[in-house]
Amino acid sequence: MKYPCVKLNNFAKKVNMISSLFLQSDVPDPYLIYENMLNINPVYWDEPNKTWAIYSYKHCVEILKNTKTHIPDINPDNVQKLNTDALYILNNLTRLSNGVEHEIAKEITTIIFSKMKSVEIGPVTAALIQNGLVENKIDWVDSICKKLPVLILLKSFSFDTNDSDFISKKIETIVKIMLPKKTVEEVNSINEISEDLFFIIKKHLSSLALESLLSSIAEKHKMTLEQVIKTVVSNLIGLFIQSYDAGRGILSNALLQIIQNKTFSNKKAIEKSVIETLRFDPPIHNTRRIATEDFFIGESLIKKNDFILIVLASANRDPEKFENAFEFNIERSNNFENLTFGIGGHMCLAKYFSIQLATEALWLLFDEYKTITILDHNIQYEPMINARLPKNIWVSIL
Ligand code: HEM
Repeated sequence: MKYPCVKLNNFAKKVNMISSLFLQSDVPDPYLIYENMLNINPVYWDEPNKTWAIYSYKHCVEILKNTKTHIPDINPDNVQKLNTDALYILNNLTRLSNGVEHEIAKEITTIIFSKMKSVEIGPVTAALIQNGLVENKIDWVDSICKKLPVLILLKSFSFDTNDSDFISKKIETIVKIMLPKKTVEEVNSINEISEDLFFIIKKHLSSLALESLLSSIAEKHKMTLEQVIKTVVSNLIGLFIQSYDAGRGILSNALLQIIQNKTFSNKKAIEKSVIETLRFDPPIHNTRRIATEDFFIGESLIKKNDFILIVLASANRDPEKFENAFEFNIERSNNFENLTFGIGGHMCLAKYFSIQLATEALWLLFDEYKTITILDHNIQYEPMINARLPKNIWVSIL
């Protein structure tokens, strides 16, 4: 039996408590909610949603490192009715797998990463800016954030123009494969493109000279080469998926913070701003687990099969970890210890890639254009639970 905190129940009645699960589009300032929860009940049983919500830094770290948790299955028994290729992609993603399957997928994804060639981010950003400019105005989200991370990956893996165009056009559809709940239309459109996507990526693999590495993985894990190849294809698609939303978000949120705090004097200041944005206003706000055994977090007993929401964005503002946590301060010495990329076995594999990409792109912008002004301060956010992503950011650049 779980005991929701009595203090919280009183608090909840007083302020008409918002559930731990909400759409970022519905909440003007989620950080106020996190602050309240940190003060009142950092390990909270959210009865209506039947989930634990973890708000404090130390407890988030404890859960993320806890081996008695798994990433929840978002499509048990294929209830979503994904077709063969879509299902194969979903079931083999490093991001969503557990146990030995996770170890294999992670090893494969790390190999894929090692095959990326270095691409200059500045010139690609400059070209996208030129393309997106209407007179001196540009929607930073549509023209840059939604395109740049995927484009850099495509170039890093030397995809040709036709395949790059196909993947760039379809990325918005395929990212929906990660949604725990999908509409019938979303499933249909994912199913429609999965076979072509799988075919294109598989065809491209031969150019990456991975044969001997993949054969040794097959031997080591007693898999067929075909199984290994399919896992590679799934996780290469996974990299495009992972880069789209989170990569978009850091480019957007960092731009807003840099302009507001005027931290653009040199490239180092931009890099520090990107890192502090990851702590202060991260693109990813939470991630999920399911308990595989009973265990305690503080005094709370988490029971086997309980769902757990790890509120990374709240942990990042925990005053026990970060001094003056509610201040944007690029000079704070431990900003890099933010939890935005997770920690433990499932930590993001693209932490440094993402920081470098955002730093280079934003430095190009601030170095090239001397006056960058936000045209509409009323930023609207996408209707997502796990990510805080501006829909548009119109700026004028001179
Ligand atoms: C600012 C940008 C990004 C953020 C905030 C971010 C955040 C995260 C988080 C929170 C996780 C771990 C989830 C968990 O433990 O439950 C994760 C995992 C992962 N991310 Fe990222 N990510 C970003 C960009 C990227 C990019 C650009 C790529 C690929 C190119 C990527 C690839 C991955 C992969 C493969 C995993 C799974 C690792 C594993 O489960 O072993 N991420 N990311």
